[in-house]
Amino acid sequence: MNRDEKFAGLTERNDTVLNGNPKAIQKHQDAGKLTARERIDQLLDAGSFQELDRFRRHDCHDFGMEQKRPLGDSVVTGFGTIDGRLVYVFAHDFTVVGGSLSKVHAQKVCKVMDMAARNGAPIIGLNDSGGARIQEGVASLGGYADIFLRNVTSSGLVPQFSLIMGPCAGGAVYSPALTDFIIMVQKTSYMFITGPEVIKTVTNEDVTKEELGGADTHNALSGVAHFSVPDDAAALALMRELMTFVPQNNLEETPVIATTDAADRVCEDLDTLVPDSANQPYDVKDVITSVADDGYFLEVQQEYAQNIVIGFLRIDGRSVGVVANQPMFNAGVLDINASVKGARFVRFCDAFNIPLWVIEDVPGFLPGKDQEHGGIIRHGAKLLFAFAEATVPKVTLITRKAYGGAYCVMNSKHIRADFNFAWPTAEIAVMGGEGAVNIIYRKELANADNPAELRQQRLQEYQDQFLSPYLAADLGYVDAVIFPRETRKVLSNAFASLNNKRDRNPDKKHSNLPL
Ligand code: HXC
Repeated sequence: MNRDEKFAGLTERNDTVLNGNPKAIQKHQDAGKLTARERIDQLLDAGSFQELDRFRRHDCHDFGMEQKRPLGDSVVTGFGTIDGRLVYVFAHDFTVVGGSLSKVHAQKVCKVMDMAARNGAPIIGLNDSGGARIQEGVASLGGYADIFLRNVTSSGLVPQFSLIMGPCAGGAVYSPALTDFIIMVQKTSYMFITGPEVIKTVTNEDVTKEELGGADTHNALSGVAHFSVPDDAAALALMRELMTFVPQNNLEETPVIATTDAADRVCEDLDTLVPDSANQPYDVKDVITSVADDGYFLEVQQEYAQNIVIGFLRIDGRSVGVVANQPMFNAGVLDINASVKGARFVRFCDAFNIPLWVIEDVPGFLPGKDQEHGGIIRHGAKLLFAFAEATVPKVTLITRKAYGGAYCVMNSKHIRADFNFAWPTAEIAVMGGEGAVNIIYRKELANADNPAELRQQRLQEYQDQFLSPYLAADLGYVDAVIFPRETRKVLSNAFASLNNKRDRNPDKKHSNLPL
């Protein structure tokens, strides 16, 4: 064979791969989905993708599979760049045996995961798979376990992202669950450990795919997913956006994005944000967008546990992760879901050198039988644990209520916050006025001639003495009381002063987060 013939041989193989199975591709596209290759093209910088293992084929010879051995099998893998930064990618190809995971498919994925870990670059999975390839039995299960192991050993080493872009079942959901962020596409993507048909057989329950594991379910109800987007293109664009907030790996800093927004910009709007009445809500996202560079805030888990707000912004060009109580939703109370949501985000930021900004306005942990029986003690402890363990720059701003245990938990000075600032509207105390007066003056009120008048008098005394930031400022628990309009400038200076912060936890195998 001469050189031209050899070149033609390669071209022919390439064409076979790129043409795929036109009928299956048409069906896939008719369902509103991009193909694996189109997804990769939209995700990466133009022309940057280097495919690997294009010609690998599965080696299963059971159930007639020896007749169906397409080049590349059911996954496309390789590396490329996003805004010039290296990333590793794998994209399930649903048009090949439903994107199901053969042993060879798993080996292809493991190869790029190993490269990502070794070369310190994020790994992005574009998931669209029916799970373990049934025809391969335990060889496929083993392949999943190989991937899970890599998800775990890469956790905290390189950022891992999962885009769910089709029906994902079985192992195809557990690997994403081990990664840092999950983006789901509405109406075309699903996540479940097993689908409606099996559920009907096992429990006789009728449930649709959408209800069981659609984007709404996992974003609003289960908290499995972090983002919900209308289509594939939006998912890929969001992925590129997310990359602007994260570093390449645990040893690198986040990118700095130039801004013309002055670091000392005055935030006039914040002076009138907190209402005079402690029971009246305001939107904490107004604080975040007012302070953020160019007012830009990328919210994470927007629909889940809305009493706490988490997400990314930039101050002076640098990434900051924000964790904020939301007075607009259940008065910003900390419950089980909010605690877990906050804790996981804090740990991501801490693992990847993203400074934390905590905005505190919280009446406390949610009391009640449901929460106690659900384990609020254990779950609330996760948030406390995460803040206490975090060694990245940590700055807290108390805007209003900082009551009880929630004062301690929400990144207080005592658990290594670098700076605690408070607005003059801050109320830092064991509890609110009504509750406090009822307890400490119970006997006096019971014996009073005019209990209503006495209660009002005692309430006023308590509010004047305790519901302010000044007792905490007197003790050094609050570093400075600031006017709201100064917030951006103060935070910008604070984070700048922490750029070279060094803090470490004692050496040990690992901590024991109360799971
Ligand atoms: C082999 C599979 C497959 C699988 C789908 N296909 N899933 N082949 N193994 N796991 C094939 C189908 O036979 C079909 O082939 C093609 O892919 C497209 O699938 P359809 O069913 O036609 O598509 P759709 O109607 O969109 O339904 C998609 C689906 C469904 C919801 C994913 O296929 C399904 O429920 N699959 C099984 C899901 C499952 O229970 N997996 C769990 C595996 S156990 P043809 O030739 O007809 O085009 C597991 C455990 C791992 O993963 C360990 C975890 C800890």
